[in-house]
Formats: sequence, C-alpha cells, structure tokens
Amino acid sequence: MSSYIGRHAQLYDIFYAEKNYTKEAIFVQQLVNKYYKQQPSKKMLELACGTGNHAFELENLGFQIQAFDYSPDMIARAREKAWEKQSKVSFAVGDMRELPHFEEKFEVAICLFDSIGYVLTNEGVMQVLNGVYENLKDKGIFIFEFWHAPAMLKSFDPVRVKRWKLADKEILRISETSISIPTQTSTVSYNIYEFFPNGTFSHLQEAQTNRFFQLQEMIFFVENAGFKVVSYYDGYENNTKIDEQTWHIVMMAEKV
Ligand SMILES: C[S@@+](CC[C@H](N)C(=O)[O-])C[C@H]1O[C@@H](n2cnc3c(N)ncnc32)[C@H](O)[C@@H]1O
Repeated sequence: MSSYIGRHAQLYDIFYAEKNYTKEAIFVQQLVNKYYKQQPSKKMLELACGTGNHAFELENLGFQIQAFDYSPDMIARAREKAWEKQSKVSFAVGDMRELPHFEEKFEVAICLFDSIGYVLTNEGVMQVLNGVYENLKDKGIFIFEFWHAPAMLKSFDPVRVKRWKLADKEILRISETSISIPTQTSTVSYNIYEFFPNGTFSHLQEAQTNRFFQLQEMIFFVENAGFKVVSYYDGYENNTKIDEQTWHIVMMAEKV
C-alpha cells in the first residue's frame, strides 16, 4: 500500500490548488468551538496530513499541531513549506494504523480528505480509531472525512483528464477508475505527463486504492471503538442531509 510517491508528492499542491483548504479549516475550527464552548481546544493531532495544507490553515487559526503521514515524500514537501512559512507544525512520517502513544493527550484529532479510506480493511479502520481513542483526552473529539458509497457507486467517472497550463510547463493527468463492490474500493490509476518548453516530457504512473463507506457502517466502526457520534455533515457545509449526491461526509465523534 503506497501513495503519493516521489514526483507525485511534489506535484500534489498543483493538483489541489483549487481545493478550499481555508474554508475547510474554518469549518473544523467552528466544530471544535461549538463543541468545547467556553474553552476552545488548541492541541491537535492530524493523521494523513499530506503536504500540510490543513495544518498550516489550522495553525493560523491558533492550533498547535502534530501531523503525520506515511509518505516520506509528502512529509518532505510539508517540511519544506513549514520552513518557508516559519510554521511550528511538527511533521512526522508514520502510519495512522500504528500511532505512537503520546505523553500528552490531544483534545482534537483530524483525518481529512477521505484519507481514512486508504487503510482499506475493517481491521485497518479499527486500528486507526483505536489509536486515535488512545491519544485523545477524555471527551476529546475526532473530526474526519470519508468517501460516501452511494455517490461513488452512482456517479463515479471511469476516465478523467485534467490539464494544467503553468508558466514553465504543461501537465496532463489521466485518471482511470475501477470499482470493486465487494471490497467497497475504488482503484485510480494515474498517468501524469509533464511537457517542458524544450519539447521533452516526463511520465509517472501511480495506482491508489481507497475505500468508500456507508454512513451506518462508519457509525458502527466509530461506536465499536468507544466513540459517540456527535454530528455529521455533507462535506464542509452546515448541511446534515445525506443522500446519493453526498460525496464526502465529515463526521465528529466524541471519546466517551
Ligand atoms: C488525499 S491525500 C490527503 C492529504 C491531506 N489530508 C490533504 O487534505 O491534502 C491522502 C493522504 O493519506 C496518506 N496516507 C495514506 N495511507 C496512510 C496511512 N496508513 N497512514 C498515514 N497516512 C496515510 C497519503 O500519503 C496521503 O498523503
């Protein structure tokens, strides 16, 4: 199991430049503030942080963040950005199924952009939830986002082509998706071409498998790990109506 290796990690921020990380971080902050009322929490654990985009936004909103990702190349990119931004976010390479036991526990943990699905199996999901549970203070909260099965099964795109025209090159990404219903997974095969002004090009290929979930299935996992589901939303909107148009569910669970 691997994802965002080498050059793919370096290109990640180009591919997601349009993603509204600021809005998503504010939504997370609002959930935390609503939950903690008088005492907004400041210490946060982030799983599968990628190149740190949510972490930097949340740091600007006042959180102190310990962030993890199992791709050393994504963490290398996050650290470069931290250095440029003079950020104090602590980035570490680590598998979210094997979280270390931190001496000081956290009030909040997050795992965003459907990253929990990368662990694929029921056992993997439980390992993540149990590890988060261990590292949260009593009544601490876990805010995470997962891919919603009904939207995926109804509307997935077998082939997608995207092009980025940049000052120094052009990038073409072809994404081919296949679905496995029994394992509730989608495998995306990326072919990425970078075309340079001197007529040369480079190519990379990576396949990633990610799992999608039914809402009740996720509630079952979360409750089995000892959490109580506090709320869930259609993405980063204050909308709790979940239907087959809902691609991403953001859930907040409390350690009870
Ligand atoms: C879609 S990216 C999201 C990154 C970041 N959260 C964001 O919103 O930009 C998924 C991330 O999950 C990481 N990942 C996948 N499996 C993991 C695991 N078992 N432990 C830690 N990170 C993992 C990948 O390396 C990748 O950076």
